Amino acid sequence: MNIKDYLKTQTGFINRYINEFILEGEPKELFDSIKYSLNAGGKRLRPILILESAKAVGNDNIQDFIDIAVASEFIHTYSLIHDDLPAMDNDDLRRGKPTNHIVFGEAIAILAGDGLQSYAFELISKNKKIKPEKLLKIINILAHGTGIYGMVAGQAADILHEKYGTFNDIQFIHVHKTAKFIEACCHIGAVLGNASSEEELALKTYGLNIGLAFQIQDDILDEIGDTEKLGKKVKKDVNNNKLTFPSVYGLEESKKLARKHVEKAVESIKDLKNKEILTQLAKFIIEREV
Ligand code: IPE
Ligand code: IPE
Ligand code: MG
Ligand code: MG
Ligand code: MG
Repeated sequence: MNIKDYLKTQTGFINRYINEFILEGEPKELFDSIKYSLNAGGKRLRPILILESAKAVGNDNIQDFIDIAVASEFIHTYSLIHDDLPAMDNDDLRRGKPTNHIVFGEAIAILAGDGLQSYAFELISKNKKIKPEKLLKIINILAHGTGIYGMVAGQAADILHEKYGTFNDIQFIHVHKTAKFIEACCHIGAVLGNASSEEELALKTYGLNIGLAFQIQDDILDEIGDTEKLGKKVKKDVNNNKLTFPSVYGLEESKKLARKHVEKAVESIKDLKNKEILTQLAKFIIEREV
């Protein structure tokens, strides 16, 4: 099976679990809003990376930690709902559908994001299969990568550049808003797989580099991609005065830089037990059109 088909299968696999962990509740609008964005589609890259990183160092017991993988998708979906808000990127199309705030209004969209974030940590804390010390470490890694020293910092820097022109460090923005979360997912997989310190470092380096390549490719697709395929509007970055790799380095150099990070990622995992999927996945990140 080629990597594209493999990833499709894995996306389907994660999709089967997404709703299992969200129960019904009140108010109904809040739960409808959460489910709307979760079920709109998405590649499920972050949960896939948690599972594949654990497998890469020899832990195939994914039933023991599928909830942790799904929790990462809850955080990612929260970040997309908030990223699309009028005060942020002001987008009206996501995963091929009207954005959450267009359907449910801004207040419910904000609360759906807030709820997905805290529920992700609640879910991880309830896992009964993984040892509590490990769960604590995983919660720490995820909070760090997605919080004020990770994704939230990057999103703030991105907005400060766009709206006020006061933050101009492209590397900081992209590493923080996207790569640190992806690094955290690979790191979590390493912890779940009882990785040695060398393996843990290898997976972190891999994650950070594919994460950066992933955001560079996201910027590239905003310029040359297709709305139909992407499920989101294109050419928004230029209209929003965003700092992107193509805006700083041009398209060709951006492609080169993304390639360089993929090579670094592949090199970093060369000694892992089962490196094949992760190697193919890294290469696919810069070939993707979605
Ligand atoms: C989009 O993430 C936001 C970025 C961090 C670039 P994805 O491209 O993973 O979005 P989905 O989950 O597949 O919709
Ligand atoms: C968003 O980057 C990164 C997040 C943390 C959500 P973008 O703003 O470029 O993501 P898209 O293009 O809207 O998916
Ligand atoms: Mg954004
Ligand atoms: Mg955006
Ligand atoms: Mg983008």
